[in-house]
Amino acid sequence: MQNQGIVILGAGKVAQQLYLQFLRSGIEVSTIWARNLSKATIALGTAPVCNQLSELPTDAHLYIICVSDGAIAEVAAQLPIEIRMKRLVVHTSGATPMSVLAQSCKHFGVFYPLQTFSASSKPDWTQIPICVHANSDDLLQRLQHLASRIAKHIYVINDEQRLALHVAAVFVNNFSNYLFHIGATICETEGVSFDILKPLIAETIEKLKYQLPKSAQTGPAIRNDVVTIARHEDFLSKYPTDFQAAYQLLTNGIKSMKE
Ligand SMILES: NC(=O)c1ccc[n+]([C@@H]2O[C@H](COP(=O)([O-])OP(=O)(O)OC[C@H]3O[C@@H](n4cnc5c(N)ncnc54)[C@H](OP(=O)(O)O)[C@@H]3O)[C@@H](O)[C@H]2O)c1
Repeated sequence: MQNQGIVILGAGKVAQQLYLQFLRSGIEVSTIWARNLSKATIALGTAPVCNQLSELPTDAHLYIICVSDGAIAEVAAQLPIEIRMKRLVVHTSGATPMSVLAQSCKHFGVFYPLQTFSASSKPDWTQIPICVHANSDDLLQRLQHLASRIAKHIYVINDEQRLALHVAAVFVNNFSNYLFHIGATICETEGVSFDILKPLIAETIEKLKYQLPKSAQTGPAIRNDVVTIARHEDFLSKYPTDFQAAYQLLTNGIKSMKE
């Protein structure tokens, strides 16, 4: 691989975590572009930040667009022509097709780290799958090589598979976290510590290491324990209707697992 460093576009959660991991792995990030310079400087400290796309180095070997999904095409279209025609440009989105870059870039791909990132989190990159895809075999190999320098589990995943993984990820992460929020709210309202539920949450995840979710399912819905379900619904009547609706929807879904 050439050695003119990497350019990261965007300064949000993924940009920050990728920057730190490249740094830790001895991979040079020559520039981070962000539309809001002062916000990016606060988030990224001494990292080399600029807010003018026209000031970007045009000889980097990779440009990673880490902006909100809806802004990827717009940012790619504004890159200097030399970058769009000669360099490899990728995005990091799970749900966005690679083709959004085809309209403006000649060499393009996807570099999607399948994990939930927060600015304050310290992810273990050895455990993060990186899904790569590109519009030629040569570019794909370059992305695989780069990914293997910062992570251990690299997958070649096309647009349809990536979208499927992203939808599944929303269920297992975003939705389960929302359910943890409901649990935490109920505990707080009733004056009991949410900590008491943490061993249960840990065991729920632990069991998935050796069991399919379907066979691990327990609780009143899978037993069709109607008296307990009615008692729960009555208890929830003082809570937001979203909590009651979630309870009913998920109870019906669990009941249908038996069919
Ligand atoms: N967070 C995750 O867990 C995760 C995991 C894997 C992949 N991804 C993907 O990674 C990408 C970035 O996600 P993120 O979580 O890092 O988002 P984020 O923390 O919300 O950061 C988004 C970045 O995009 C910039 N931006 C938004 N609209 C823009 C526009 N119109 N023009 C220029 N810059 C714009 C924001 O700038 P301002 O700060 O100025 O608003 C910010 O720097 C997305 O494609 C997402 O799907 C996210």
